[in-house]
Amino acid sequence: MPFTPDHDLDLLFPTEHIPADVRKQLPPELHIRPLASSDYARGHLAILSVLTVVTDPGEAAWRAQFDALRAAPRTYYPIVIVDRTSDRIVAVGTVFVERKFLRGLGAVGHIEDIAVDKGQQGKKLGLRVIQALTAISENSGCYKTILNCSDSNIPFYEKCGFQKKENEMAKYA
Ligand code: ACO
Repeated sequence: MPFTPDHDLDLLFPTEHIPADVRKQLPPELHIRPLASSDYARGHLAILSVLTVVTDPGEAAWRAQFDALRAAPRTYYPIVIVDRTSDRIVAVGTVFVERKFLRGLGAVGHIEDIAVDKGQQGKKLGLRVIQALTAISENSGCYKTILNCSDSNIPFYEKCGFQKKENEMAKYA
């Protein structure tokens, strides 16, 4: 499939939120941008399946979820890295902005669902995704950016400038 430029896409948030310095550090065949309404067809769920088991809801339901995220402006920032040679997604990640009554009506950025195509791992794409999401979080006024990860991913996040704090608690329905 030929590469689709940003101006031909229906993006979830303005592309200007992604910092130019992160964009510049990617190899020329790769492009970082917000998630687009047509990304179901570019392998979005296949990349997420690198992270966990994915149940494909079908394109219409995927699109409804995209619309639900976009209906909460300045809150959800899912980004993708696309291979220009194939127009396929090779890396994904999201930050969402939680607005608080604490901390002088402060905000916290939550990084979620980071995944890099197995064949592209070890090429700093994960790092670029985290750098872009952290910049979006900080430029949104978040006083901290946090995430949960497995022990085996701690060294990766330390390389991205994060440090271990507190514990995660979970209760599954
Ligand atoms: N252990 C030790 N070091 C690591 C690891 C690891 N598991 N992963 C990456 N690194 C190091 C790299 O060697 C590199 O170090 P360097 O700067 O000294 O060369 C640095 O971290 C940056 O690595 P990247 O090349 O950017 O890593 P990559 O593109 O492979 O992405 C990721 C890392 C996202 C963990 C990827 O391997 C992946 O998709 N894994 C499967 C899914 C997953 O676990 N996602 C994270 C879930 S947590 C969450 O979503 C909040």
